[in-house]
Amino acid sequence: MRRRVANEAVPKEAEVERTTSLPSEKWKRSFRTALLTWFAKHSRDLPWRKSRDLYRIWISEIMLQQTQVATVIPYFERFIATFPTVADLAAADEHDVMRHWEGLGYYRRARQLHAAAKQIVTLHKGKFPTNVDDVRGLPGIGRYTAGAILSIGLDAKLPILEANTIRLLARLSKYAGDCASRQGQEHLWAWSEAILPEAEVGRFNQALMELGSLVCTPKQPDCENCPAVKLCPTFAENLQKSIPAPKRPKAFEETREAAVIVLNRRREVLIRHCQPGERWSGLWDFLRVSLPLEPTRDNLLETASQQVETRFGFQVDCDDPIATLKHGVTRFKITLLVLPAAFRKQPAKLNRDEFVWSSISGLEDRPLHSSARRIAARLDQLLRTSRPKLF
Ligand code: ADE
Repeated sequence: MRRRVANEAVPKEAEVERTTSLPSEKWKRSFRTALLTWFAKHSRDLPWRKSRDLYRIWISEIMLQQTQVATVIPYFERFIATFPTVADLAAADEHDVMRHWEGLGYYRRARQLHAAAKQIVTLHKGKFPTNVDDVRGLPGIGRYTAGAILSIGLDAKLPILEANTIRLLARLSKYAGDCASRQGQEHLWAWSEAILPEAEVGRFNQALMELGSLVCTPKQPDCENCPAVKLCPTFAENLQKSIPAPKRPKAFEETREAAVIVLNRRREVLIRHCQPGERWSGLWDFLRVSLPLEPTRDNLLETASQQVETRFGFQVDCDDPIATLKHGVTRFKITLLVLPAAFRKQPAKLNRDEFVWSSISGLEDRPLHSSARRIAARLDQLLRTSRPKLF
């Protein structure tokens, strides 16, 4: 971002929309032309832009929620290579779907994707629906995703609103309020709908996202190279720093947990399939329990052992941590202690649907949360290089 310097072309009064009301016909015509001309030169060559197959667009849009384009590209390519059609995804094992999602986070997206694929097979004969109400009836699809899929795939005249376009439209409409508020959302959806062209809606919506992502960036928008600079009241008044209004900082909560590592004589580790309704349902994890934030060493090990018994019904003795990891999940900042443990009493029988003994190399094939994957790598290293006393 920069200040305008003297003698530089100042947008004419008429070119600047000064209110938060909807844009004029003249403004919309100028904006569409400027945006689409810019997009013809600057659109990125992204793998989901190579076809207009609704299934592929759907997968890309779900992956792109909360995740950067660069991170999504290899995941998208692997996912489509393994599950090229809705039917392939519907018929897949949940385990395989989760393994392909591992590392992308927000695993609920993968579970809902899988459930939606099954629904498409049963309710829509395996064809991705083209009616907006049917699309919105699928698990994990809200107004934004339905608009993105059907506009990009079929040029349906539907608006979109996601992080990049929220920022762009807030600046173009000089909306200084809270974009996440009800009023802010109503205002921004109304703008995203009002500016849609009659034709090429898919290209237009993608161009909006591209401009938001490449030019109208949060901290240093490249106003000099923006095709809409003359149409932007936020630029005209040098308000880029305060529009959009900064979000309230997230309130983080510090928590402490333990990953309890029980090995058997064959050097297999006890792992657990996270159950429906749990944070990582569908993924595998070590025996994970909550710990109070400030226990002393003795009561830390005692507490962890007790928690294992309360949660899972096994009596174990935990030993000193072999590692401490920090990781974040939504608003939680988690300090995770990795505690080796031995059974105090061998459990009579393990529920095979929930608990499995796995070799360390066997963990490769199982979907794990990234913190569990880090522990697996650590265990692999430890077991190769030393024989820790408890193992
Ligand atoms: N973010 C969300 N959807 C996108 C898309 N289709 N292209 C680029 N960035 C996006």
